[in-house]
Amino acid sequence: MTERVGFGMRPGSGSPAEEETSSAGEPLPPDASIDLAKERADSQVDEVLDALDRELVGLVPVKTRIREIAALLLIDRVRERFGIDSGRPNLHMCFTGSPGTGKTTVAVRLAELLHRLGYVRRGHLVSVTRDDLVGQYVGHTAPKTKEVLKRAMGGVLFIDEAYYLYRAENERDYGQEAIEILLQVMENQRDDLVVVLAGYKDRMDSFFSSNPGMSSRIAHHIDFPDYAAGELEEIGTMMMEREGYRLDPAAEPVFREYVERRRKQPRFANARSVRNAIERARLRHANRLLDAGGSVDRAELTTLRADDFLGSRVFGAGS
Ligand SMILES: Nc1ncnc2c1ncn2[C@@H]1O[C@H](COP(=O)(O)OP(=O)(O)OP(=O)(O)O)[C@@H](O)[C@H]1O
Ligand SMILES: [Mg+2]
Repeated sequence: MTERVGFGMRPGSGSPAEEETSSAGEPLPPDASIDLAKERADSQVDEVLDALDRELVGLVPVKTRIREIAALLLIDRVRERFGIDSGRPNLHMCFTGSPGTGKTTVAVRLAELLHRLGYVRRGHLVSVTRDDLVGQYVGHTAPKTKEVLKRAMGGVLFIDEAYYLYRAENERDYGQEAIEILLQVMENQRDDLVVVLAGYKDRMDSFFSSNPGMSSRIAHHIDFPDYAAGELEEIGTMMMEREGYRLDPAAEPVFREYVERRRKQPRFANARSVRNAIERARLRHANRLLDAGGSVDRAELTTLRADDFLGSRVFGAGS
């Protein structure tokens, strides 16, 4: 026999499934069983996972890990119904990768997922860098860091380029103070806050070797590889589609060649550089249409042509 029991969200979680069948502390009898498909549907976790799949090209290992974490949390909650206490899993993470590889985007989805699974109360993302945490004068760092932590509570705290918190050359750097506070909160309040440290892999590795306390609190290391040329093209096509544009078939090789060249340039920022190239093409497209004067039809309004991209200077064009 299958006994159908909802998750019963934590108080104040504001989550949709509000079926508290057995009151808190009343575990299900050992011979009860729970319909996992229903639990899964009730949590609405698949909507977030599917959005992640749809929105982001590639990143298969990243998506797989996020799915695994979702499964763990779902099963943990079912175990809880039987009174099996596994303790909150540690979910602090480290996202390594170059700029524009999707780290922030995935962190936003992760926050939403953790919220749906009742792990955090609010499911928002607070994104900070060293300057938001560390003060310039004695006594300024602790209040700054605590204020950020307060804002992030109930969600995900995303610390971009986290290694700047630690300056090996300066023993009395205030960054150390911020690290100490973070370490404490990561240990003691991990039931309502997930910290994600992000940045380049090599710098993150040396940060961890100088900060073993931080390293030991990170449960998941997720690497975001640079995109292959084909993936960047696909990302570009997707971005254009979302914004109501299409690429003129004659412009396809031009766009491809642009991406291939740009990849090898300095300050290349993966998907963000593709986005910027499209923004510039939109600008040129609009000006081209206005300069031509006369009337336009839908096709002209939505089609980006080769010359819209050819104007994209590769050298010194920024990212
Ligand atoms: N795999 C992908 N598919 C589609 N769009 C993507 C993908 N990866 C990133 N993007 C898009 O590229 C832009 C930059 O992504 P995001 O800000 O998540 O990167 P990031 O790794 O956080 O970069 P940074 O380290 O510079 O902050 C966003 O507009 C995002 O939607
Ligand atoms: Mg980012």
